[in-house]
Amino acid sequence: MGKGGNSEDAVSGKEHGEENMAAWLLGVKTLKIQPYILPSLGPYDVRVRIKAVGICGSDVHHFKTMRCANFIVKKPMVIGHECAGIIEEVGSEVKNLVVGDRVALEPGISCNRCSLCRNGQYNLCREMKFFGSPPTNGSLANQVVHPSNLCFKLPDNVSLEEGAMCEPLSVGIHACRRANVGPETNVLIMGSGPIGLVTMLAARAFGAPRIVLVDVDDQRLAIAKDLGADDIIRVSTNIQDLDEEVAKIQSTMVTGVDVSFDCVGFNKTMSTALNATRAGGKVCLVGLAQSEMTVPLTPAAAREVDIVGIFRYRNTWPLCLEFLRSGKIDVKPLITHRFTFSQKDVEEAFETSARGGNAIKVMFNL
Ligand SMILES: NC(=O)c1ccc[n+]([C@@H]2O[C@H](COP(=O)([O-])OP(=O)(O)OC[C@H]3O[C@@H](n4cnc5c(N)ncnc54)[C@H](O)[C@@H]3O)[C@@H](O)[C@H]2O)c1
Ligand SMILES: [Zn+2]
Ligand SMILES: [Zn+2]
Repeated sequence: MGKGGNSEDAVSGKEHGEENMAAWLLGVKTLKIQPYILPSLGPYDVRVRIKAVGICGSDVHHFKTMRCANFIVKKPMVIGHECAGIIEEVGSEVKNLVVGDRVALEPGISCNRCSLCRNGQYNLCREMKFFGSPPTNGSLANQVVHPSNLCFKLPDNVSLEEGAMCEPLSVGIHACRRANVGPETNVLIMGSGPIGLVTMLAARAFGAPRIVLVDVDDQRLAIAKDLGADDIIRVSTNIQDLDEEVAKIQSTMVTGVDVSFDCVGFNKTMSTALNATRAGGKVCLVGLAQSEMTVPLTPAAAREVDIVGIFRYRNTWPLCLEFLRSGKIDVKPLITHRFTFSQKDVEEAFETSARGGNAIKVMFNL
């Protein structure tokens, strides 16, 4: 076991004789691999050698615009948050992990003190420090320091890449929990991007018997079909087509749509979700494409359609790992592109992810 991270080495930018490098976001579409001096290792922290990092839509937003929703990148920041790696050093009080363990990292550090944290809704904590969300540095780096209670040991048959996929999968798991998806829930999913797809995989693992995916993009719909969607429906972006499309969706789900997930977040997709869901059903808004929406809320309310939102996830890593271990969920087909951790590859990987289309999850192997 090495010495603490805040040694003389740290001052020189070297961690244990080796320079720790990270992908720093320096400006719009400007990512540079540069040295990253790690924070010191606290008694409950671990130092992790990162082996797999996935690119998320929010990373691409930061890359393209230096912001995501209300979070603005004001100074250089290490990007990335979907990651897994191998423990290299443990703090003096760490009991649950040892050097050499392979772990998936949950990216958000909450305060553990506020009423939301104490209620278990720690994902809503206002003090949250989240990898790669400004001003907190992320995890596209050779090594990071992270609290041990946010590092989850991978089962032997779960790869490091699959470990990194626990982050996006967690969004789908949390959405399904919030909407109470079970073996009697027929599910509609608007949007067949990475988030729509992980929501589909999670809904299936929770027992949903019938799942229909909707998108404007044939390529994305074909992927949904390959991954097990019972039906796929291509729609337009024209609001005039709404009624016709809702009728088409309902005709594929004769017993009614029990739960709809809007994994896009436009006026039109949310309107479709609200109108297509049966009386007494639920709509879960996951996508955040528009900061505000105009939707037919009153008729949905009059049919007692419940609307729930989600923000990331809480307490999802153990269940993700169990679904991956047991084979109830296979995330491997979502990984469509792989890159190494070189300057050229980092640039290419982000451009690939930003293009969308057949790129679902772009993964770095470090
Ligand atoms: N609430 C949360 O905690 C949370 C977490 C992660 C992601 N998100 C949000 O989820 C959304 C989806 O993420 P993603 O990575 O899958 O994004 P993505 O852009 O890759 O996928 C969106 C999909 O929606 C499709 N689409 C666009 N317009 C459409 C329309 N009018 N009708 C039907 N389909 C349409 C696109 O073709 C695409 O396949 C994003 O807004 C993201 O910010 C929210
Ligand atoms: Zn993510
Ligand atoms: Zn808190």
